[in-house]
Amino acid sequence: KLLADFQGTALIEQQLSQKLGIARCIVLPGNSDKQYRVIDSFGQRLNQLLGTILPNGKNLIAVTGGSTLARVARNLSPILSKNRDLLFLPARGGVGESVIIQANSVCAEMANRTHGQHRALYLPEDISERSFESLQKESSIKSVLDLIYKCNVVVHSIGTASVMAERRNLSDVDRLKITNSQAVAEAFGDFFDQNGQLVYKVPRIGLHVRDLANIEHVVAIAGGASKASAIKAYMKNAPAHTVLITDEGASKMILRDN
Ligand code: BG6
Repeated sequence: KLLADFQGTALIEQQLSQKLGIARCIVLPGNSDKQYRVIDSFGQRLNQLLGTILPNGKNLIAVTGGSTLARVARNLSPILSKNRDLLFLPARGGVGESVIIQANSVCAEMANRTHGQHRALYLPEDISERSFESLQKESSIKSVLDLIYKCNVVVHSIGTASVMAERRNLSDVDRLKITNSQAVAEAFGDFFDQNGQLVYKVPRIGLHVRDLANIEHVVAIAGGASKASAIKAYMKNAPAHTVLITDEGASKMILRDN
């Protein structure tokens, strides 16, 4: 039975990678919509994966925020720091979200669990286009940004558009724009409809989806049947070398529809 399960999962992983057009999918048992421990298993699997793919020496790891990664972070271990210097960085300015799920906090937790280091980007919530421009030149911000743009690893999640529109403290007008454009997915502040068209963008400092193509290791983590359409839509824009860690809940849904 175990061998059959293993072969079954390997087949699902292969089908899913093909359907999403990415290098590799890792599918874990369960449905994280219903079971939090599935998210812990994402974290354990990430720990294992990073342990095999990261080079020795210095690693700059950019991570996004969100409830998924906040929980994933708690499952990393000091093993990752063996022969490595790990520096965790927030992929985007940590604005507009509650403290525990901010990228800054996820970084701090990952650094703490792995005995690595971290840097933070403290930015105010609603910054105007103008202050956004000048803030990028502030030396405390610029030094972190320079590191972010040099990262060799990105770990990010994928959000459900409606949930993220709520959480991002957007104006009514912007939220309406997102609803009217039928956005289903969000990542790095970009909202996509089901065809993968970019329909709305939150102006934020840091990494963008288009930057991922040049980063050596890109790991996306998202699960739960409720995230199936978000994962599918986002992957139309993801670089082909993305590795997705997900669960049966999401993958069954993705493989089911055309
Ligand atoms: C946000 C990230 O913090 O979390 C987004 O900036 C991501 O890029 C989102 O899509 C996902 O959140 P959650 O709570 O669904 O894991």
